[in-house]
Amino acid sequence: MTPARISGDSNRAVILLAAGEVVGLPTETVYGLAADGLNEDAVRRVFAIKGRPTGHPVILHVGSPADLHRYAERVPEAAERLARAFWPGPLTLVLKRSALVPDVVTGGLDTVGLRMPAHPLALHVLRRLGRPLAAPSANRFGKVSPTRAEHVQADLGGDIPFVLDGGPCEVGLESTIVDLSGERPRLRRPGKITIEDMWRDAGVAVEADDGVGPAVPGSLPTHYAPRAAVSLVAGPDLWPRARQEAQRVKLGVICQSEVPTDLPPSVLVERLGQTGADLARDLYAALRRLDDQGAELVLSVLPEAVGVGIAAIDRLERAAAPRD
Ligand code: TXA
Ligand code: MG
Repeated sequence: MTPARISGDSNRAVILLAAGEVVGLPTETVYGLAADGLNEDAVRRVFAIKGRPTGHPVILHVGSPADLHRYAERVPEAAERLARAFWPGPLTLVLKRSALVPDVVTGGLDTVGLRMPAHPLALHVLRRLGRPLAAPSANRFGKVSPTRAEHVQADLGGDIPFVLDGGPCEVGLESTIVDLSGERPRLRRPGKITIEDMWRDAGVAVEADDGVGPAVPGSLPTHYAPRAAVSLVAGPDLWPRARQEAQRVKLGVICQSEVPTDLPPSVLVERLGQTGADLARDLYAALRRLDDQGAELVLSVLPEAVGVGIAAIDRLERAAAPRD
């Protein structure tokens, strides 16, 4: 196939999706690899292109909160309140599925993950298409999620006809996932919307993850790993450790503070801004740049554990986990 074309032409995305094609789609979290969620063949192609094992559920993206009732069989009050407070936005609700949802989307589970994304181009496409979109993150299985159209092009450009360019993602990390299919709401993946936010803005008490539940990608310890090894360092230890490691390996550093002038020039530095939100937004792009420049080891600081900083810490810890 000829390489994907990138542009901001959302009508082209609609035409391709309606024809059963798979396209790169911007959302406020990360780019998705999207297909018509009611077209089983198209969804199957998403799995094939990603190299994702079947049996791993994908999120169904919807264009309106009313779609909750179409694709979920039962919508508990807590789900209504969360959707009212946070949709459109970076929150995925796992609910008992309705009969309209194809098996291939849910990986055979009796639940479905639903999310109404906030990116204006994603919403435009959903509304024009009039169908939900099945979309995992648009990276090859096991790689870091894409937060720019060029990332999608670099990973999957040869396999898809089009990437809709919506600019750099605002959040930069995947959505918060809350499982509402059990007795009590439970966090399955931390994201920008925190347990605290859900309590404050929706009055819904969400329990921390218990590690039980289907083994799905994203809950594997090393799912968010770049090619380089990653090591997490407390702020004050960063530069001494960097000087040491730089003598041994091609080193990359992710920091939030000023860079000392006497650092060896071979060290690749990504300075990501002061807040946890800054770090979260640019983290995946920074990891990709360091990979592209051949970093063998990346030393990273951790942001403060508040807001989306909690999710950034989760992804960094997964990236730093031992790999097999
Ligand atoms: O921000 C996001 O959520 C992005 C954008 C594109 O929307 N999507 C994303 O998709 O991160 P993906 O496939 O890379 O991760 C979605 C995760 C799965 O790994 C799985 O853990 C969870 O969502 N998931 C989906 N359906 C589920 C279900 N029925 N039950 C439990 N977990 C589910
Ligand atoms: Mg993913």
